[in-house]
Amino acid sequence: MSIISKDISKAVALLKADKLVAIPTETVYGLAGNIYSEKAIKSIFETKKRPFFNPLIVHIPSVEQLENIVSHIPSKAKLLAKTFWPGSMTLVLKKQSTIPDLITAGKNTVAVRVPNHPITLELLKQLPFPLAAPSANPFGSISPTKPEHVARYFKNDIDLVLDGGACANGIESTIIGFENDDPIIYRLGALAIEDVEAVVGKVTIKNSKEISPDAPGMLDRHYAPSTQTFLTDTISEEIKKHLGKRIGVLVFKSDLKDDTITAQIILSKHGDMVEAASKLYDAMHNLDHQNLDVIIAERFPDFGLGKSINDRLQRATFSS
Ligand code: TXA
Ligand code: MG
Repeated sequence: MSIISKDISKAVALLKADKLVAIPTETVYGLAGNIYSEKAIKSIFETKKRPFFNPLIVHIPSVEQLENIVSHIPSKAKLLAKTFWPGSMTLVLKKQSTIPDLITAGKNTVAVRVPNHPITLELLKQLPFPLAAPSANPFGSISPTKPEHVARYFKNDIDLVLDGGACANGIESTIIGFENDDPIIYRLGALAIEDVEAVVGKVTIKNSKEISPDAPGMLDRHYAPSTQTFLTDTISEEIKKHLGKRIGVLVFKSDLKDDTITAQIILSKHGDMVEAASKLYDAMHNLDHQNLDVIIAERFPDFGLGKSINDRLQRATFSS
């Protein structure tokens, strides 16, 4: 029997019993558990094979609940929360002492967001506790944007994937921390940096682990297919280097008429970066299951969501 279902009351019962449930959000599917259940939180880390030093995001149903989770809200954080929640933005703020150390990996800050998906908002409203939810993929692999992706990863490990269809935005939330009450982007994501800057002015990006020990999840290699993947500005040149192999290409908008390639996925024929982002991980899952020797991805224009897409493509590759 499939573990994919729309049954919210079953999700409530499982979560109250310290079990995990995969939940839909507008970014990616999350592997969720009660933030106050040590058993549930430990099993999130074990199921994902995620190291304990990598903290989790807390999901709440409304902006009003923020003050139960964090102890200090800078005015720019308040403004961002009011503008973008529910939505694809995570804020990292000083935590309340009631937030367990397991969630925050012992840090004095906690990551929190209000997701924008009707099913998960309804679920959160029915629960007496917030949900910790990392992306529902084994550590390092491609994040899931469809219930089937989660079921393929975890059908033997969890009882329920709450079916919310394909994720509308398709890449993870943009993570924003604060230094001296000023916003710093720790992870590029589904909310474009230009949209953040329109509200709070110029922001700094610190999204590599070298410059940001504060964003411990930003590993160089992450979101990775098991097929060897290359990222390039000159796709035809890169294809020539791999002639004779089974080649899959992932392109933004142009249709490559090239019979040396085995598979091609065009992310947005109209050149729409929002559409491209929403389809990115599904395309990577798809290519990764076609028995290819290599995947060659085309670099996106470096602005708006193109910046976030490039970040994910870069982390999907071994080098270059
Ligand atoms: O869109 C999303 O954010 C999805 C959905 C399910 O909400 N969740 C997600 O979670 O992407 P995860 O665990 O895959 O990524 C969480 C990131 C990690 O890079 C982690 O290091 C960072 O958030 N993080 C969590 N708490 C933090 C903290 N206190 N300080 C800095 N970074 C933190
Ligand atoms: Mg993740």
